[in-house]
Amino acid sequence: MIEADKLTMIYGNGHKATDEVSFKIDKGEIVGFAGPNGAGKTTVIKMLTGILKPTSGRVTVNGYDIVKDPYEAKMSFAYIADNPDILIQLTGLEYINFIADMYEVSEKDRKKRIDTMAERFGMTEVLNTQMREYSHGMRQKLMVIAALVHDPGAWILDEPMTGLDPSAAYELKQMMREHARAGNAVLFSTHVLEVAEQLCDRILIINKGKIVSSGTLDELKEKHPGRTLEEIFVDLTGRS
Ligand SMILES: Nc1ncnc2c1ncn2[C@@H]1O[C@H](COP(=O)(O)OP(=O)(O)OP(=O)(O)O)[C@@H](O)[C@H]1O
Ligand SMILES: [Mg+2]
Repeated sequence: MIEADKLTMIYGNGHKATDEVSFKIDKGEIVGFAGPNGAGKTTVIKMLTGILKPTSGRVTVNGYDIVKDPYEAKMSFAYIADNPDILIQLTGLEYINFIADMYEVSEKDRKKRIDTMAERFGMTEVLNTQMREYSHGMRQKLMVIAALVHDPGAWILDEPMTGLDPSAAYELKQMMREHARAGNAVLFSTHVLEVAEQLCDRILIINKGKIVSSGTLDELKEKHPGRTLEEIFVDLTGRS
């Protein structure tokens, strides 16, 4: 379960990036988070994950307050950042092991999970290669494997599909479905509305720091008869 309660973020330069953003993602739900560039998606996700402390408001993940119980909260979710170019001087396996060490994953569990996920993403052969030699998509796949190596409950993913080839995107979507079906909450931001349409139980749309829509695709289409999701998005957020 992921709960955002009136999250407001005012950056140091005085810019109000989000304004009382509230939503709740229940166990078993996949929720897509859409909105124009600069709307506040990454800012919200960084507050959910404890990277940014909200100016006001509160986050609860799996029952833990991210500010009061950061350790328990962080152990209970996976986070994929919007940029995979991290510690690229390490090999893929060294990076995954570094993350697995932090989350205290046993040797046996990590081996099983790394083998399975590397196989699914076609990364087995390159795990011992330095990430600086990876393509963007390979780095992204490696970040997915590392983020999931502690087998967390909730998944919070910032544009996880960016740069993935169709097979890898297919695998990740399948994994997200399996994970939600197993009773976990999944939140992911995306600019690809078709992916949101295929995958999500609900779609949150944010514009200029405020949630302007939160509902199932059917509810959205009922409210905006005869419009495609793309048209609804443009109606709600305006043209750039
Ligand atoms: N560190 C920062 N200091 C000041 N303003 C920031 C900072 N980071 C982001 N912003 C501003 O906050 C707003 C929201 O940015 P954010 O990165 O959350 O948008 P986003 O919805 O993730 O966009 P994108 O789709 O491009 O990833 C933007 O106006 C941005 O300029
Ligand atoms: Mg972003």
